[in-house]
Amino acid sequence: MAKITVSLIKADVGGYPGHASVHPDLIKEGEKVLKEAKKEGLLIDFRVMGAGDDLQLLMTHNKGVDSSDIHGLAWQAFEKATKVAKNLKLYGAGQDLLSDAFSGNVRGMGPGVAEMEFTERKAEPLVAFMMDKTEPGAFNLPIFKIFGDPFNTAGLVVDPSMHAGFIFEVWDILEHKKVLMSLPEELYDLLALIGAKSRYVIKRVFPKKGGKLPVDEPVAVVSTEKLYEIAGEYVGKDDPVGLVRAQSGLPALGEVLEAFSFPHLVSGWMRGSHNGPLMPVSFKDARCTRFDGPPRVVGAGFQLSNGLLVGPVDLFDDPAYDITRQKAQEITDYIRRHGPFEPHRLPLEEMEYTTLPKVLQKLKDRFEEVE
Ligand code: F6R
Ligand code: MG
Ligand code: MG
Repeated sequence: MAKITVSLIKADVGGYPGHASVHPDLIKEGEKVLKEAKKEGLLIDFRVMGAGDDLQLLMTHNKGVDSSDIHGLAWQAFEKATKVAKNLKLYGAGQDLLSDAFSGNVRGMGPGVAEMEFTERKAEPLVAFMMDKTEPGAFNLPIFKIFGDPFNTAGLVVDPSMHAGFIFEVWDILEHKKVLMSLPEELYDLLALIGAKSRYVIKRVFPKKGGKLPVDEPVAVVSTEKLYEIAGEYVGKDDPVGLVRAQSGLPALGEVLEAFSFPHLVSGWMRGSHNGPLMPVSFKDARCTRFDGPPRVVGAGFQLSNGLLVGPVDLFDDPAYDITRQKAQEITDYIRRHGPFEPHRLPLEEMEYTTLPKVLQKLKDRFEEVE
């Protein structure tokens, strides 16, 4: 059977109002472009969604990852949506399209990409996670919990087909290097890296030998684009997305979602310069309001049927997450009271913009040696 590729490509091409949400006309425009591509046979299926101020294109096809046809299509959809955004004078229209011309692959051009190619199983549950007002490292903790933490995922202990653990592909986004690490054997080494989430990010997870799935086909993937790194200056958020497959030799859907029941602190909130709790919300509540946040995550659940996307189910539209949201709001209130102080404000080297050089320049003649 032909392999299926699932590509989730996102960009902020204009917010409404400010950086709060995606205008419905952008979603309509994206749908128009992808519908045409489905008619022509390039796509098997698609969904266009909005999470916070990010336009999300979820596409299935047979072209493999990094296909210039698929990336070109996404680019075209973002360009057309940008036109709509400019007509409506939406905020930051086209901000994540860092180049004027598409050159074969959207990676490094602004949009975020999570895509994987795999053999569709007899039944293939898939979750698309979309975060706003944070950075790729925000996925480290939940992805680790899903595939590596027996206190989250009971299957690691009790399911013989996943008892051997998983392989984690970790990227050093500063040095542009990657390393494969095996869990549970390298648990402490892995945590030493991924706990430093602004530098080391989990890119993919693979099954191990002896399980039910092919070892060379990923079971989870996260976008790792850092806009700041690409553009060399602050141009917007990296707002990451991820795809996670579930069940039958993989963590159950409930184990995947359990990892989001703790609103951990992530960076990227307000001006890309603050820490805040990650709040799981429904699509309807994926609007960043208070202090441009707090950072949010949406989960769209699907079954794949020969590449067709059956869904989505709005997975965090669920009272079971009320307690997490309540906790996130308490943390929001608490951390906001720090105002411009760390650890609410990010350490200097991680802030996306700062007035410090100017302040120092102003004070330069007044600084004296200390005894
Ligand atoms: C951007 C974002 C916001 C902005 C803030 C200031 O995705 O989340 O926090 O950084 O609203 O935006 P400007 O400088 O454009 O007014
Ligand atoms: Mg924005
Ligand atoms: Mg955003």
